[in-house]
Amino acid sequence: MTVTEAPRIVTSRLAYDDSHTLERYLATGGYEALRKALTMTPEGVQAEVETAGILGRGGAGFPAGIKWKTTMALPRPHYLVINGDESEPATFKDHMLLERDPHQVIEGALITAYATQCDQIFLYVRGEFALGQERMQAALNEAYAHGAVGRDIFGSGFSVDAVVHPGAGAYICGEETALLESLEGKRGFPRIKVPPKIIPATVGVYSEPTVVNNVETMSNLPWIVNNGGAAFAAMGAENSKGTRMFAVSGHVKKPGIHEVEMVKTTFRDLIYAPVYGGGIQGGLELKAFIPGGASSPWFGPQHLDLPLGQDEVAQSQGVLPGGGGSMLGSGSIVVMNESACPVRAAWRLARFFARESCGQCTPCREGTGWLDRIMFRIESGSGRMEDLDLLLDVSDNIAPGLAFPYPMTTICFLGPSSPMPICSALQMFRDDFLVHIKDGACPYG
Ligand SMILES: Cc1cc2nc3c(=O)[nH]c(=O)nc-3n(C[C@H](O)[C@H](O)[C@H](O)COP(=O)(O)O)c2cc1C
Ligand code: SF4
Repeated sequence: MTVTEAPRIVTSRLAYDDSHTLERYLATGGYEALRKALTMTPEGVQAEVETAGILGRGGAGFPAGIKWKTTMALPRPHYLVINGDESEPATFKDHMLLERDPHQVIEGALITAYATQCDQIFLYVRGEFALGQERMQAALNEAYAHGAVGRDIFGSGFSVDAVVHPGAGAYICGEETALLESLEGKRGFPRIKVPPKIIPATVGVYSEPTVVNNVETMSNLPWIVNNGGAAFAAMGAENSKGTRMFAVSGHVKKPGIHEVEMVKTTFRDLIYAPVYGGGIQGGLELKAFIPGGASSPWFGPQHLDLPLGQDEVAQSQGVLPGGGGSMLGSGSIVVMNESACPVRAAWRLARFFARESCGQCTPCREGTGWLDRIMFRIESGSGRMEDLDLLLDVSDNIAPGLAFPYPMTTICFLGPSSPMPICSALQMFRDDFLVHIKDGACPYG
């Protein structure tokens, strides 16, 4: 079992009870990176982040430095939006950072704002995170009083304002363009994107160039500026550098959040090492695990030795009928032991997607509802044999080919990702589906 010596970059302060206060933040080196960044040119800060090679931690894994460059090249005004919507089932890492180290998020946002010469920062925090919002607002007030935000920051001549904006409880508002709509006071409908010209970095909030970055992505920036991009890039491997937070839940002995070095650490390490997940609950064997949030295709015990790297997971041999691997996505790993009913687990996710579909695209609006109803029928004992082919047929209409990565048939990725849990479960545990149908009951009770 490997536990590397890599430092904790974003979770180093969480051991303190008062980690959310300005006093603790300053005592542990807080706002030094911002002071340093302000002595550099914006291009110099951007170059350091590009050298670090940090990939966005919100799910899509796009390099932060390259995204910034697109916005920097365009005329002002520029906006910066921090995505703290985190509503994916079993994903709870940003929640922790917002509540326990809000100044780190704010400092990362200020460094980004300076590098991209942005005129206003929006800190978008999920509506249900009451404590997270309270802590972010208190930290922002402290940061203003400290001279780190507002006019002429630390006497550098650079000015930017920031505001905490609460979400209203919709998973789809985590999708960056739905988030922008919601910020503009509209219904959270994802926008049609036509890369490379029409993406938030070019046409964002109020139709101006906007950098949208995840909370954890932001939290890495103080360390990168303080230690240099090369030090960050020295951890992990070619396309997955640095460390990353993983929320490990389900049937592990020690559910929780762990920051680990990318690629050098494997799923086995994270699930079984005593300092991380601690092994499988109840003295039972591992049945399956979800490697990267609700949208990701499932893995089985044969995938335990895969390194935690974006490419390694994407290019692995997964379980989908059409081939391809899976993704690290939102950084949440859900472990199922032998006592878990895979049909019920897949149905719960199907229902989640059906309820959260915004309804703009026909394959997603209709398809997620069909999948939810068929899965419910099977799980509750009224399934028919032909339902198994029907599930695959409906899934294939939403995500043609049933492979990973899935093609885009809809405006956003919610649609094509919704059949992934069902196709995985059906491929891995067909016998469980058959028993539900033949016996008219769930064998797991
Ligand atoms: C349905 C859906 C929900 C999403 N939810 C979140 C979220 O809660 N937080 C987040 O940072 N990114 C979320 N994303 C990804 C964002 O669209 C976007 O890629 C990300 O905020 C960019 O930040 P990053 O480059 O720092 O990862 C979601 C994407 C989709 C399709
Ligand atoms: S894929 Fe689904 S959630 Fe995304 S825009 Fe279309 S209907 Fe809305």
